[in-house]
Amino acid sequence: MARAQARFVCQQCGAVHAKWTGRCEGCEAWNSLIEELPREAPPQGLSKSRSGGRPLGFVGLTGPSMLPPRRQTGIAELDRVCGGGFVPGSAILVGGDPGIGKSTLLLQAAAAIAASGGAAYITGEEAIDQVRLRAERLGVAENPVLLAAASSIRDIAASLDREDAPGLVVVDSIQTMYLDTLDSAPGTVSQVRGAAQELIRLAKRRGFVLILVGHVTKEGIIAGPRVLEHMVDTVLYFEGERGHQFRILRAVKNRFGATDEIGVFEMSDGGLSEVPNPSALFLAGRTMPASETEEDEPAGANAGHLSGSAVFAGMEGTRPVLVEVQALIAPALLGTPRRAVVGWDGTRLAMITAVLDTRCGLSVGVNDIYLNVAGGLRIVEPAADLAVAAALVSALTETPVPDDTVVFGEIALSGDVRPVGHTEARLKEAAKLGFGTAWIPIGRGSGAGRSRAVEAGLKTSAIGHLSELATRLSARHAPLQRSMREIAR
Ligand code: TYD
Ligand code: MG
Repeated sequence: MARAQARFVCQQCGAVHAKWTGRCEGCEAWNSLIEELPREAPPQGLSKSRSGGRPLGFVGLTGPSMLPPRRQTGIAELDRVCGGGFVPGSAILVGGDPGIGKSTLLLQAAAAIAASGGAAYITGEEAIDQVRLRAERLGVAENPVLLAAASSIRDIAASLDREDAPGLVVVDSIQTMYLDTLDSAPGTVSQVRGAAQELIRLAKRRGFVLILVGHVTKEGIIAGPRVLEHMVDTVLYFEGERGHQFRILRAVKNRFGATDEIGVFEMSDGGLSEVPNPSALFLAGRTMPASETEEDEPAGANAGHLSGSAVFAGMEGTRPVLVEVQALIAPALLGTPRRAVVGWDGTRLAMITAVLDTRCGLSVGVNDIYLNVAGGLRIVEPAADLAVAAALVSALTETPVPDDTVVFGEIALSGDVRPVGHTEARLKEAAKLGFGTAWIPIGRGSGAGRSRAVEAGLKTSAIGHLSELATRLSARHAPLQRSMREIAR
């Protein structure tokens, strides 16, 4: 019999190529093709093949719902991100950098649920002793979690395909699992896809909650095919800075809840604990919002808070993030003013200084300008324009932006502030992190049809033109007031 034709599958996007090439034609990723042998049987995994099909029994949209109640872990941040607890029979994918705390979080979740509904923790990465040691550190060693070190899907299926399957099954990680009906190595696209398919099918049949841990590539997406994200019901990302204590759990997909929820945890000696007031950790070093009832007046009440800083409510893909934009303006000593930009686009900075100069009558451009996005984040969104402008004007006028305020909006060359997408998500994140006011563009979100964030106590204040921002931040700066009046004439 002839050897089955080899094929090369991109590990990033799943595209199949007949020959190896250095670059995938599908997603243009470099060095992502791996040889995989095609399966011999049609894709039906371990289940028995059935000849012919049987007619579907169509039903109406209304009817008695068969969904059992959600399972709650009691870890409030986790339950909330999942939309109020785990839905039995659902599959959840948890992604995140190595060492960020995925195994820790899931062991804690399994331990929390074990006594009431049963929980199994299957590890393909660590030895039993390692997990036991961790359980001891976390103080959950006494909880009746079923622990196993395994990586064969056939073995796992044989142990879990029972009436009395545990209510929660954690598989750490999906990249270490393999299906012996496939020839490729664990971690390849077909293995990851095949293994996940089997486990998800099992979870649906036996009604347990399945949590898969997924590794993350350098680019920050879950390694393996994107299809994995399509196969599961919920995708959570666990992220944070290695050097920092805080960790954020975000839902990027959730069939059973909102995706704009985040859960904040703190990593300590005793494992992960929930953080009731994340703002304090998050924008550490900043003076936090003084009071929620503060009026809209810009300066004055914020004595002690530094000028030249604005909090930008940004989006990272589908995920909202708040970052501090810092600006420093110094008189230029040399003929050509210096520009040093960290974390943002220098061309865009030039544009904004030009707009501030020309449309608002400020003289920003003649100075040396240093712009920094705190925390090492790189922003690519034009929505950061208004926050950058606010930091610049604040630095120039030595007037702090009110410290409970977040800012976002795109600036046009005319000086108009344009609406940006995801207003709701940005506002919600700001409200969640304790901010009370948002300076936003006129348009969606600023008018009627108020968002949930606004209901939660966040005030929005619309800015139609950049000069309005300049007016707010230069109220006590007489020379600027004069030059702005001249421009207005
Ligand atoms: P882990 O859960 O193994 O990460 P992942 O599964 O995402 O790779 O987390 C390991 C890190 O967490 C490790 O650097 C040590 C730290 N840690 C604590 O600080 N405190 C603890 O109680 C535990 C269990 C881990
Ligand atoms: Mg781990």
